Amino acid sequence: MRILVIGGGGREHTLVWKIALSPRVERVFAAPGNAGTAAVAENLDLRATDFESLGKAAREKKIDLALVGPEAPLASGIVDYFDSLGIPVFGPTKEAARVESSKAFARSLMEKHGIPCPGGAVFSSHQEAREYIKEQRMPLVIKADGLAAGKGVIIANSLSEAEKALADVMDTKAFGPAGDRVVIDEYVTGREVSLIAFCDGKTVSAMVPACDYKKIGDKDTGPNTGGMGSYSPPGFFSAAMTERVTGDILLSAVKALASEGMTYRGVLYAGLMIADGKPLVLEFNARFGDPETQVILPLLKTDLVDVLMAVVEGRLDGMNIEWRSEACVGVVMASGGYPGSYKTGFPVKGLDSLDSDALVFHAGTRPGSDGSVLTDGGRVLTVVATGKDMAAAREKAYDNVSRLSFEGCYYRKDIALRETDGVHSIA
Ligand code: GLY
Repeated sequence: MRILVIGGGGREHTLVWKIALSPRVERVFAAPGNAGTAAVAENLDLRATDFESLGKAAREKKIDLALVGPEAPLASGIVDYFDSLGIPVFGPTKEAARVESSKAFARSLMEKHGIPCPGGAVFSSHQEAREYIKEQRMPLVIKADGLAAGKGVIIANSLSEAEKALADVMDTKAFGPAGDRVVIDEYVTGREVSLIAFCDGKTVSAMVPACDYKKIGDKDTGPNTGGMGSYSPPGFFSAAMTERVTGDILLSAVKALASEGMTYRGVLYAGLMIADGKPLVLEFNARFGDPETQVILPLLKTDLVDVLMAVVEGRLDGMNIEWRSEACVGVVMASGGYPGSYKTGFPVKGLDSLDSDALVFHAGTRPGSDGSVLTDGGRVLTVVATGKDMAAAREKAYDNVSRLSFEGCYYRKDIALRETDGVHSIA
């Protein structure tokens, strides 16, 4: 088979790596890819939102399956476009991808179909939203309805902060048209976890659960990022809870969409808060998580391509997808200054000094002219290791991180630390 992966981050490198391991696969292409995907796939210099060029390339390269990584092309209808060309594609249609591209749509779906989520409301009128927040207990979570590159969620601790957030989102349009509507959620506390499932429109099959780290600093301090690390599986999220969320949330959502005329094919990501033992949906995403994918796919025993094809062909029912009973930890190495401004173009050193079973998934990298790898983004690499338990995986991941360097390199020191009680803390 010839498979095209659309996107160019750590998630897409992980997908390319896993797909290339399949004996069914003859060739993998990545568009646009990065220096990591270039080592296992052919990179195509095309933007993930340039549907026409992607479709043309897919035909020229005789692609048997295209897989979409990021949310933006899904939200703009890349799956509908590839369908119209008759090219098999993995991912939900534009209409179904609204579970991620419209938080108002997701809230209304959940409310209508009894899927547990925090209390809240949706507003198109700034004035009505202002009246509403006056009656609410703080903190509040104020979200731009549409896609905002992971930045459209503001936690307001006081009425004045909530008023400012509303003005930023709805008046100043800090997130563009994504802020034409807002969703205002009550603030819930607990433990956050991501459960992502393969879905073929009727059947869902959950992957192993994972946790990501969104803040730049240790102990969850500083501004939000695209994700600074992840691990799987979290000890607090039991097999029984996985089963409960799979049925009550993921399958319920797929059935709810089906009842409204949408066949949800691809992966459905539930970002959950476990509050007093009860799972609540904070967000749905219509795609694989980043950096969760980097620690989930190394634990997948079944051939990923078999699973992808079962999804696309509606054959998930009865398929036994197997996972390793091991732990996996991923540490993101970022450019100094990220998520603010940072410099790029620095050589990454030490890539040839890593353990043979350590994995390095590239995100912001590009090949140098002399065969070197250069930094090319905020998040540069995710260094991933598996182990018999979380402590072993963590130790191996950080040991390999310590062998890599580039000018200004920054990483968190506490990824998965809470799972190991600090016993194996990193100096
Ligand atoms: N890790 C969060 C996300 O993929 O949206």
